[in-house]
Amino acid sequence: MDFHYKDIVPWGRSFDEYLDMFDLSEEDLTRDIVGVGDGPASFNFWMRERGTPVISVDPIYQFSEAELRQRIQETYEDVIAQARQNQDKFVWTKFSSVDELAQVRMQAMEEFCRDFEEGKEQGRYIGASLPDLPFPDHHFDLVLSAHFLFFYSANRDLAFHLDAVRELLRIGTEVRIFPIVDVNSNPSPFLSPVIEELERDGVNCSVERVPYHFQKTGNEMLRLKSR
Ligand SMILES: C[S@@+](CC[C@H](N)C(=O)[O-])C[C@H]1O[C@@H](n2cnc3c(N)ncnc32)[C@H](O)[C@@H]1O
Repeated sequence: MDFHYKDIVPWGRSFDEYLDMFDLSEEDLTRDIVGVGDGPASFNFWMRERGTPVISVDPIYQFSEAELRQRIQETYEDVIAQARQNQDKFVWTKFSSVDELAQVRMQAMEEFCRDFEEGKEQGRYIGASLPDLPFPDHHFDLVLSAHFLFFYSANRDLAFHLDAVRELLRIGTEVRIFPIVDVNSNPSPFLSPVIEELERDGVNCSVERVPYHFQKTGNEMLRLKSR
């Protein structure tokens, strides 16, 4: 049994998961950060709580809180049903069961929903889409993007991936992308071609192991820095 998504789903992870997915240190958390494709994750909410606000970008931020709550509820049934059928693709140490996973993710998305309308007014949630982001060159120190590029390799082609990654490098000094496998934990066919092209552009690319290990083969991120 495989995961199949007709398109990219709004689904969000917790602050602790973000720390581990991107191997974020306390020093990293003080940098100027943007999360691209943050969806209904609770990273932005918790960074505001800590007093070091960040910006999140996602096309779904054009919707209202009520519309997002409805989309999350619809997505929940599908994602959790597919997770039950694909339990063998995960390492069950961080979460002991699909029920615990569902509870942690729903709590993170509830935190996001409660923060969303106020955060949008404050400019912390910006509705925009890769590969065109509304920021000047080198505007951020650290650009994070999780569970979108490489993850949805079945839904977006190589040209999109290249344009998107170049856009992330345009707006930030350092880019971290997690994971580098697709929704079924298979290596993304786009990873090597993207790295080859970026190295030709003069970008420093490294694949690094991170503390987050939930998808069986999904414990590595791609770190990019323009030379
Ligand atoms: C599975 S969610 C991941 C959310 C969060 N980053 C996490 O890891 O929990 C993928 C997100 O990518 C967003 N997305 C889809 N197309 C996008 C695009 N062109 N540019 C930026 N984000 C996009 C979706 O709206 C969705 O919220």
